[in-house]
Amino acid sequence: MPSEGGAGPLIRIENVSKSFGTFKAVDDVSLNIEKGELFALLGGSGCGKTTLLRMLAGFEAPTAGKIFIDGQDMAGIPPYDRPVNMMFQSYALFPHMSVEKNVGYGLKHDGMTSAQRTDRVKQMLDLVKLTDFAGRKPHQLSGGQRQRVALARALAKQPKLLLLDEPLGALDKKLREHTQFEIMSIQEKTGITFVVVTHDQEEAMTLASRIAVMDHGKIKQVGTPTDIYEYPNSTFVAGFIGSINMFDGEVTKTSGDVATVQIAQLGGPIMVPAADSLSAGTKISIAVRPEKITISRSRPKGPNSFSGTVKDLGYFGKDSLYRVKMPSGTLVMVNSVNARRAAESERVAQWEDDVWISFDPQSAIALKG
Ligand SMILES: Nc1ncnc2c1ncn2[C@@H]1O[C@H](COP(=O)(O)OP(=O)(O)OP(=O)(O)O)[C@@H](O)[C@H]1O
Ligand SMILES: [Mg+2]
Repeated sequence: MPSEGGAGPLIRIENVSKSFGTFKAVDDVSLNIEKGELFALLGGSGCGKTTLLRMLAGFEAPTAGKIFIDGQDMAGIPPYDRPVNMMFQSYALFPHMSVEKNVGYGLKHDGMTSAQRTDRVKQMLDLVKLTDFAGRKPHQLSGGQRQRVALARALAKQPKLLLLDEPLGALDKKLREHTQFEIMSIQEKTGITFVVVTHDQEEAMTLASRIAVMDHGKIKQVGTPTDIYEYPNSTFVAGFIGSINMFDGEVTKTSGDVATVQIAQLGGPIMVPAADSLSAGTKISIAVRPEKITISRSRPKGPNSFSGTVKDLGYFGKDSLYRVKMPSGTLVMVNSVNARRAAESERVAQWEDDVWISFDPQSAIALKG
């Protein structure tokens, strides 16, 4: 067993469950988080994200399982004795205190001299770029600035681990995006391990070095943003992250590294990369991201080409979203980048045009459940 401060992951969660009465809010979660990671817990409302965070912080005790932080078993250790700080879902600042006082608040009982406290507060305000706002009260700040005060306050005690519950939830889209990059840069500068809870998949993809996708108290997949997006392990994760076309099919044959899958919704067979688990007769789902599908007026060479009719066309400037209706009635989403400047009449396809859609076999994700 690793000793305190030794090698090994900063957080080890081993078969942790939390029940409220008969309801399991967190269900047999096992997870390691390394030192210096910016880790995201991603999942829909009520899936157990906050509950898991509260158990890490010590506000809630697991019903079963163990949590180790820096090699130390956290059972029975109260929040204030853990090397952890938590920024809550609604980061309440003290309204009557200045920015400076808010940031320094948690340091009072830390045995620091007042000079040390002043220094630390200065450092933190510098880090979140609020030095010029030190004397203001929270109501004299913008939402994003208030969020940074809360972050500075949480960082002031220099915890080994900072838990952030929906840190950007209160901000509008533009400010969110901007603040995401600030959080990343602050995390890099301090080297503190961050665990960020979010229900926003784009935010998790932007921020995190690794993501755990949660559903109904369970972790469905853990991986880098690329893993989760390009190699989802289930229809749930595939559908939760980004938009995706999902087809039901049955493997008709496999030969070499190619499997052939009959898809009624597309009106024909498609080729997908063969995997060990695929054999003739296997029922599977095939997922294809809209941006992996090409739309064209003439029939493309190669496999996985189908004809349909454009039913919807959304022009978003940098890209266009098409919905192409197949003879089966299925609508296929196609996202195409508008790399060239083109008049409307020059675009690949118009409303009601007969078109071809196609995708590379490598872009098809075969999923069993
Ligand atoms: N103290 C409690 N008593 C009973 N049930 C609770 C308690 N705390 C949480 N729950 C339930 O546990 C489940 C998980 O709650 P949790 O707050 O962890 O969800 P969440 O993933 O953070 O959701 P959100 O994104 O909405 O914040 C929910 O169904 C919630 O109602
Ligand atoms: Mg929550």
